[in-house]
Amino acid sequence: MRPLHGHRVLLGITAGIAAYKAAELARLLVKDGAEVRVVMTRSAVQFIGPMTLQAITGQPVRDALFDPVHESAMGHIELARWAEVILVAPATADFIAQTAAGMAHDLLSTLCLASAAPLLVVAPAMNQAMWRHPATQANVALLRSREVTILGPDHGEQACGDTGPGRMVEPALILAALRDRFAGGRRLAGRRVVLTAGPTREALDPVRFLGNRSSGKMGFALASALVAQGAEVVLIAGPVTLATPVAVERIDVETALQMRDAVFTSLPGAAIFIACAAVADFRPATVAEQKIKKATETLTLELIRNPDILSEVAALADRPFCVGFAAETHDVETYAEAKLMAKGLDMIAANQVGVSQGFEADDNALLVIWNGGRQALARQSKPQIAALLVNLIADQFDAQTAT
Ligand code: PMT
Repeated sequence: MRPLHGHRVLLGITAGIAAYKAAELARLLVKDGAEVRVVMTRSAVQFIGPMTLQAITGQPVRDALFDPVHESAMGHIELARWAEVILVAPATADFIAQTAAGMAHDLLSTLCLASAAPLLVVAPAMNQAMWRHPATQANVALLRSREVTILGPDHGEQACGDTGPGRMVEPALILAALRDRFAGGRRLAGRRVVLTAGPTREALDPVRFLGNRSSGKMGFALASALVAQGAEVVLIAGPVTLATPVAVERIDVETALQMRDAVFTSLPGAAIFIACAAVADFRPATVAEQKIKKATETLTLELIRNPDILSEVAALADRPFCVGFAAETHDVETYAEAKLMAKGLDMIAANQVGVSQGFEADDNALLVIWNGGRQALARQSKPQIAALLVNLIADQFDAQTAT
């Protein structure tokens, strides 16, 4: 059954350049099985045509409080009662202010006041100065205190030329929040997930090592997102300085060989294996017992190949659902597809890496590819993108276990 099957969602759209994203959100909600009714503010109609939303949802779109035609079919109070949940995306500073103050100036604000349904998610979109204004921040705090989920806004370039917080979050993130709400955040309840994260260090001598720039942030964010979906998570972490996410079993390792041992020890009973670690592909053939002295102009190191942990897990006869990462500096899609095939994976999440990109950064963008599908996840914070990736993993895992 589709995740939102039969759920009644009232989608409110307020004015802003991000209103075009509401069409994609409506499409995703319908695809997920939700019944969707759209209510637009009069100004939102200047940004996206109601006909588009009507075609996507198969339902008339409403934008007026006193509308004799619509009121004779489903009156606004009836619509308020019909809604199981209310989403508003994009949400202007004005809408947030009206709702915080309990105003009923137009159809959408009236419905928010008249409905017993939770105003679940509000996705703000506005100029960065409007978002930062103390009045908006106080209104947002008021909504949060009433348990309204505020998603975003994202940080970035704005249509007005400014840069800062104010961009509406991606529709996929709003969908994920709604799915979480209806699934009670337990899509992976009872599933054991083994996850690698961070770098490995391959010692050259007692003071030096070969390593890489992985901070562990992506993998640790995934561990939290998996726990939020009810999974039992074993996190095998290379040397990083991050705190252990709540309810996660953590095993610290240093080298690729130790990581491999920890993975195989933890694997029995695992339904899913996710390899997010940046494992060193090679290790020094010998480790000097004492600090190597700079006695020569050049130094040649002999390296030997480390085992590919992910490929070994994917080759097991009774293997878990296997998700790999691909860190690429160029031709991301081509290399990721090749790794998906070569390593025999169920899914791969590819990211471009470089200076302040992928590695170490607080945000990331991913191209997720699986057999028969792909989805690009736009740049956003690692916790946000981890929540989306976990939803995609749960989708494909469910699809595979259903067959
Ligand atoms: O830790 P952060 O700073 O947050 O950065 C996140 C990240 C960029 C490290 C992460 O998003 C990421 O891309 N991780 C995979 C990095 C990597 O090593 O990619 P790869 O293309 O070299 O390896 C492909 C896959 O094989 C990966 O799933 C890797 O974990 C796995 N592998 C690789 C080599 C090896 N010996 N064993 C493996 O299991």
